[in-house]
Amino acid sequence: MKKIGIGIIGLGNIGSRFYKEIITNKREIGLKTGTNINIVGVSAKNINKKRNFKFQKKIFFKNPLDITKNPKVNIVIELIGLSDGISKKIVENALKNKKHVITANKALISKHGDYLSLLAEKNKVNLEFEASVCGGIPILRTLKDGLATNKINKVIGILNGTSNYILSEMEKSKNSFKKVLNKAQILGFAETNPQFDLDGNDVLAKIRILSALSFNNKISKSKCLMSGIENIELKDIDMANKLNLRIKLLGITEIINNKLFERVHPCLIKKDKYISNINGVMNAVILEGVPVGQSVLQGEGAGSGPTSSALLSDLLSILRGNIKYPFGISSNKRKNIKSYDKNLYSNSLYLRFEVKDKPGVLSEITKKLANFKISIERLIQIPDRKNKKASIVIITHKTNERNSTKCLQVFKKNKNIIKNPTLIRLF
Ligand SMILES: NC(=O)c1ccc[n+]([C@@H]2O[C@H](COP(=O)([O-])OP(=O)(O)OC[C@H]3O[C@@H](n4cnc5c(N)ncnc54)[C@H](OP(=O)(O)O)[C@@H]3O)[C@@H](O)[C@H]2O)c1
Repeated sequence: MKKIGIGIIGLGNIGSRFYKEIITNKREIGLKTGTNINIVGVSAKNINKKRNFKFQKKIFFKNPLDITKNPKVNIVIELIGLSDGISKKIVENALKNKKHVITANKALISKHGDYLSLLAEKNKVNLEFEASVCGGIPILRTLKDGLATNKINKVIGILNGTSNYILSEMEKSKNSFKKVLNKAQILGFAETNPQFDLDGNDVLAKIRILSALSFNNKISKSKCLMSGIENIELKDIDMANKLNLRIKLLGITEIINNKLFERVHPCLIKKDKYISNINGVMNAVILEGVPVGQSVLQGEGAGSGPTSSALLSDLLSILRGNIKYPFGISSNKRKNIKSYDKNLYSNSLYLRFEVKDKPGVLSEITKKLANFKISIERLIQIPDRKNKKASIVIITHKTNERNSTKCLQVFKKNKNIIKNPTLIRLF
């Protein structure tokens, strides 16, 4: 059997589980690939840190870059997670030294994926990153292999388990955003600093990778329509419930008039739709393509188990000699697709205004909306007499982003409106 040396850099949540999975599955991997794999190098920041698995100290490399040039190492696994710095250096050096690379690092791939894939192609080695998008769902391989000849038109996904857990749990427990976030952190579903999960950036990184694989484009850099879930309050969840809707943070990428339109934002979705019933930490992806039609994939998006499963599938792909272009086609054939003007995007909106409860405020709001040609489909007023306040919820007919953005700016100056209105787009 061919001997293959593996170097794992990063022994945290994912690295330590992956190490154990390799040891447990060594025989199975040998049977399936005809190779004899051995972990010949590991590295992390702190050599003295207590780990939940045992390894021989002699395979620990203080400088992770030494693993990338070690002749015994054929495959380097990067599991640190920075978008630049040491993570980029490791991947770059390993590829230049003709080592295959596997990474779970969406931040790195969404930022430097074009450059790194070109480097992998030049050096005739693999760069695999299945674990960077929805760990438990083999979505990248599905796009690269299973649906390889399809013309994909649109991808819709619940791509962040943390925010999906928070929204589902707020609905179930009727607890505030803050309380539920706290519970998510205790349960290990949210990081100590959950900013990227909550502000939409994590989903954006994944959407950019999905676009590149779906539409054969270079990773887009343009500003897309983006908002996270930080401004969603229990009031919105309750109101959605009353309207037979549910709030989900979606990542959507599609081609409109030959232009790329990527967006990440909370959506109000009818409760009987498939995507609104993906709850908790689950992820789901809906693909629309020709000739396949609609294809739906669902699974756990994060955590050490699903992520290790994706890393192992990358490993087996390399061991089977499946050397391919990292983004499905040769780098020099990938296009730059122009971005769709997000201001033209038109949709119905849910707007919640927190106002002072005094006469004339409602008509001020409706007049302003009319000035911007935003017509009202439904209006609900919820008074809070004790605090002399009221919530006004308005569902609009379709209006474009240019109008709604300008209109919301105007409301900022209105002293009767207590805080910036909450906007959620209807799906
Ligand atoms: N956690 C998830 O559910 C999940 C899901 C999908 C993808 N991912 C991706 O998987 C990757 C790893 O995530 P994780 O959750 O395992 O992170 P983590 O628990 O924070 O582990 C990071 C590891 O990197 C090591 N490290 C940090 N700086 C280093 C340096 N300068 N040199 C060498 N090692 C260094 C740390 O060393 P010490 O242990 O010594 O501190 C630690 O072992 C990231 O790209 C993440 O986005 C994670």
